Amino acid sequence: MSANRDAVISLRKRFQDALSTHAFGRSVLWLESVASTNDEARKWADSDAPHGAVVFADHQTGGRGRHGRSWLAMPGLNLTVSLILRPVFQPAGFGLITLAASLAVCECISRSCSSLSPSIKWPNDILIEGKKCCGMLLESVIASDRNGSYVILGIGLNVNQVEYPGSLRASATSLMLACGRPVDRALLLADLLQRLERMYSRVESRPEGIVKDYESNLDGIGRRLHLSDARSGYTYRGIFRGIDGSGALLLDLDSDLDSEIRSFHAGDVRLIENDG
Ligand code: BTN
Repeated sequence: MSANRDAVISLRKRFQDALSTHAFGRSVLWLESVASTNDEARKWADSDAPHGAVVFADHQTGGRGRHGRSWLAMPGLNLTVSLILRPVFQPAGFGLITLAASLAVCECISRSCSSLSPSIKWPNDILIEGKKCCGMLLESVIASDRNGSYVILGIGLNVNQVEYPGSLRASATSLMLACGRPVDRALLLADLLQRLERMYSRVESRPEGIVKDYESNLDGIGRRLHLSDARSGYTYRGIFRGIDGSGALLLDLDSDLDSEIRSFHAGDVRLIENDG
């Protein structure tokens, strides 16, 4: 039996002992290695995966990030997981899942290491002291028959990795780097799924509260932003005013005329930088 396989078996056992959810993580596909957990989750969702099913991989060989970027995570040290959701609410509300997931990850980080105060960079990067420790990739399939629709929430959380390639060294961090000690991935995943399940039920019952809580953890409100629309090639600058009820970013556009506040959805634009 390979060391990798032993590690996944041990992680699975500790995870199962710690899990206290109703649905999330009750069915898990445990993989030593896969190209992308999001792709695997999608295949499973197209067949019979139940709501709350999870794909875990100890190593991703083709991890995908937002806007066609790749997601790099060293094997055996991080969490690379995809959660399959079958929302009973309308697709217009799917964007709120991003907000709920960001809040759940922030809570989970603070609970695993009480000295840390994570924040959110719109739409769903989680930062610790300005460096990214977690990214999420939300992909949805909307069927004409509502029961056929699903959402894949892919989460890449840097846990015990302490070395990053040159290009990422200045911008990436992990829980171990920030907290100064290793974190048990099995317990972390069980706790994360519990928090995700609780937040997800808030999306179903009281979405207004989610928007408010998300905004209070959001970085950069009141600061200048620079957004780019890859499709049109257009760049927008202005002051970041927060988000609307669907999670869209509100930008007070630079203009010589009256102030114009415009909303931007996460799938349409890329946040280039904070102008300061
Ligand atoms: C981003 O910040 O650009 C999003 C990164 C999302 C990475 C996770 S890792 C698990 C899941 N599988 C993937 O291929 N991507 C997501």
